[in-house]
Amino acid sequence: MCGITGFTGKESALPFLLQGLERLEYRGYDSAGITLVDHEKMTTYKAKGKLADLKKIIDPEACPQCAGIGHTRWATHGVPSQLNAHPHSNADSTISLVHNGIIENYQKIKKDLLARGYVFRSETDSEVVVHLLDSWYRRLNGDMEEALRHTVRELEGSFALCIVTTYIPDKVFVAKKESPMVIGRTADSSFCGSDATALIAYTKEVLVLEDGQIAVLSADGIKVTDFDGNPAEQAWISIPYDIEAAQKGGYDSYMMKEIHEQPRAVRETLRGRLSPEGKILMPELDQLPVRWNELKRIYFIACGTAYHACIYAKTLLQKAVHVTCIAEPASEFRYEEPVLDRDTLCIFVSQSGETADTLAAVKLAKAEGAHTFAVTNVLGSSLARAADATVYTCAGPEIAVASTKAYTTQLVLLACIDIRLSELLGGRMPDKERIITDLNNLPAVLDRTLDMEPMMERLAVLLQDQRDAYFIGRQLDYPTALEGALKLKEISYIHADAYYAGELKHGPIALIEKDTVVMALATQAEIAAKTFSNIQETIARGARVIIITGPDIPVSGFENVLRLPEIAPQLIDIPAAVLLQQFAYFAAVNKGCDIDQPRNLAKSVTVE
Ligand code: G6P
Repeated sequence: MCGITGFTGKESALPFLLQGLERLEYRGYDSAGITLVDHEKMTTYKAKGKLADLKKIIDPEACPQCAGIGHTRWATHGVPSQLNAHPHSNADSTISLVHNGIIENYQKIKKDLLARGYVFRSETDSEVVVHLLDSWYRRLNGDMEEALRHTVRELEGSFALCIVTTYIPDKVFVAKKESPMVIGRTADSSFCGSDATALIAYTKEVLVLEDGQIAVLSADGIKVTDFDGNPAEQAWISIPYDIEAAQKGGYDSYMMKEIHEQPRAVRETLRGRLSPEGKILMPELDQLPVRWNELKRIYFIACGTAYHACIYAKTLLQKAVHVTCIAEPASEFRYEEPVLDRDTLCIFVSQSGETADTLAAVKLAKAEGAHTFAVTNVLGSSLARAADATVYTCAGPEIAVASTKAYTTQLVLLACIDIRLSELLGGRMPDKERIITDLNNLPAVLDRTLDMEPMMERLAVLLQDQRDAYFIGRQLDYPTALEGALKLKEISYIHADAYYAGELKHGPIALIEKDTVVMALATQAEIAAKTFSNIQETIARGARVIIITGPDIPVSGFENVLRLPEIAPQLIDIPAAVLLQQFAYFAAVNKGCDIDQPRNLAKSVTVE
């Protein structure tokens, strides 16, 4: 988590730093700070709270400096406070630094530095880095690059660092290990940010820094070396979206904008995946050196919302193949002693491609000889670079912390992957031809689903005065129930749980009382009747039930029934998820919550 920006050029650094932080605020928003630097001195501003609180204390007129760094924080070590906010500086305010990641050996380094007389002002792990760098700079008689190399070689853990110094005020020093950092330039400036959205207003050509690299930015160029000082190759890529994609575009929140972008995002994700003959095209998968007839197991691994997409993918695939399909949260995967060998395929799903647990899981899978395949939304992300092969959801930048379009595009791509896997494994995906036809129809179905928004707004009122809500579903509806409950918790702070519909009577039903809201998903015709019985059990105890079902499933005698448009049952949970996003959205609006930046959360979780 945490967002970083850095700039050096011929013009004031402040506009770049602040606009970049604004776009990166989804990475953390409990405090923010900037340092500006010139030959005379360094000026640091820090504030607890959101970026808006920082802006209040900065006078842009008084900040003409052409180099600087910025940070927006998601606290790990030390409470959110002005003192713990970045940047952190050395004692004589000649070096200032921002950090994203975790320095795992900070206590040992801190002990050594304290013994040498260094004084610490914050509770953060990050502050050790600036003092360590100061100590190397002094020992090496003023060679900043060499001092940085010595410093990073001592650090354990993950870091993206961005540093300015009054000694060389026209340069910004950057180092990266396991936390993202992207660099860009124009004719007279160089800059960096934790992801490409921070740079998009200035350039579309970016350099994704690799682990173990140091970059020195100056107005007229960028030098990249490894931690030993050897020059590194620079592979520049083009960002596949425009500035408009990273703006609210007339909506009240990014989340609502992103909910409405889903028909387009799905269309983009499917581009090139469906042949005119009705086949799924997935060359990235075909080219994996897997012995398909020997393959024994397929793991789907991810965190949070992406993990729910994994449950969908394994449920769908398991109906089509004999190979064992497993969905695992990445944070548990490593500790389960998973069977990993060359007859194992691990599919990793991550919007950002930077989630620490997911990256640790891919590392383990590779080390043990399993095949690794990634589904991500971010070109050049760490996951994309770690996996044997990668396919991209083309959702465009997702900025709201609560994931929406990333989830539905993950489901779409995973449905395609499952179909292709079933073919490669000699299995039989039920209704394959219909699913492929309806993938083509999905954007139009999502458009019609979005038209149901007023109904979701009306139904969200049922949650007023409620502290809890329950989501139930069976089979493919179960991950949708999980995702609906997660959305509601994340943005409205209403406690929500999801259960297999048949499990409700084994305990959770004890919590159902008069007016408890139960959101029931019953989109799968062959088991809908069983779910309806479970719904009756909750109504008998006073629940207010909302039912989301398919167009032709017989339902009668219920109060709130929402019928989704016609689509293959294997895909119907995609529009169902959209309704639940809207439900959570309106519940949160009714409570006056901050939709895009819910408390305690961050979009990109780069700590384990
Ligand atoms: C965080 C976000 C979730 C997201 C999860 C995994 O918890 O708040 O929305 O699902 O990380 O993120 P990833 O980028 O790996 O999909």
